Amino acid sequence: MEPSRIVSKKSLGPDVTMYRISAPDMARQRKPGQFVIVRISEQGERVPLTIADADPAAGTVTLVVQAVGKSTRQMAMLEEGSILHDIAGPLGTPTRIERFGTVICCGGGIGTAPMYPIAQALHEAGNRVLSVVCARTAGLLVMVEEMEKVSDEVLIMTDDGSRGTKGLATDGIRMVAGREPAVDHAFAIGPPVMMKFASAVTMELGIPTTVSLNPIMIDGTGMCGCCRVTVGGRTRFACVDGPDFDGHQVDFDELIKRLSTYRDQEHAAMEHFNGGCRLTGSGGHGSEG
Ligand SMILES: Cc1cc2nc3c(=O)[nH]c(=O)nc-3n(C[C@H](O)[C@H](O)[C@H](O)COP(=O)(O)OP(=O)(O)OC[C@H]3O[C@@H](n4cnc5c(N)ncnc54)[C@H](O)[C@@H]3O)c2cc1C
Ligand code: FES
Repeated sequence: MEPSRIVSKKSLGPDVTMYRISAPDMARQRKPGQFVIVRISEQGERVPLTIADADPAAGTVTLVVQAVGKSTRQMAMLEEGSILHDIAGPLGTPTRIERFGTVICCGGGIGTAPMYPIAQALHEAGNRVLSVVCARTAGLLVMVEEMEKVSDEVLIMTDDGSRGTKGLATDGIRMVAGREPAVDHAFAIGPPVMMKFASAVTMELGIPTTVSLNPIMIDGTGMCGCCRVTVGGRTRFACVDGPDFDGHQVDFDELIKRLSTYRDQEHAAMEHFNGGCRLTGSGGHGSEG
């Protein structure tokens, strides 16, 4: 674990920020599907974040962060040049990349950021990459241009039809799969409920599917047991056995229930944080360069 500097910071939309962080060893070692755990300060929470990209020559890794609670909002208030107290990683088992043939890569909301390095690696491995990039509304779509560079086709879907085709991730998967003679594998990353229904659709269509799970994590090394998920009836630790798993085997209802375990405490922490911001006049969102 070492301190890291925020080299650059860019807003990708409401509450979503892309950071390039100085981490030369990680930039060399990371593989698609791996993540880091960041602490903003010594007393800070440990925040797991997927490595969305890396530049080994510049010695930086890219993180795309949605401000959803206290720690991610604190991070949004940091400026270029700020120091993160520590960053640990790369963690987790890398995504299995092979030459499947034709693959669907479906990213929902912020889930498109962790999908990007996977789509890129699948493309480099010689797969035909058909991407489905979805969000509730146009302003919440992230990394569309990046996905276009590493995909043979990109289907943009928004729930409200404000950009691309109107419909859900599952509609996009059905559209793409329906016009292909065969789809050999699917990848889905996004909110657990989206991965649950995407996996149900691909199960019906007979397409093997990999999902990337985001349970609550603390140590990220398989010691605390916090990130346990049930896959194929067995308990697995997402931080070391995953975060990728067979979407057709995951108990998504349990994952969704466990994610809400600390909702009252998270709400209280956010209220306390907002109160502090009001007193100091620093605002909850910070400036985004
Ligand atoms: C492997 C992995 C990769 C992730 N990658 C990204 C990413 O690239 N970009 C991104 O924006 N988010 C990512 N997340 C989710 C991110 O870690 C949480 O949004 C963040 O920890 C929320 O903290 P908070 O204090 O801001 O919000 P809180 O108010 O504390 O929590 C808001 C919600 O975030 C989730 N959460 C809270 N604490 C944790 C924790 N320690 N571990 C996991 N989830 C938590 C819960 O669902 C909670 O309801 C990832 C999570 C995992 C497990
Ligand atoms: S986060 Fe502690 S075991 Fe996975």
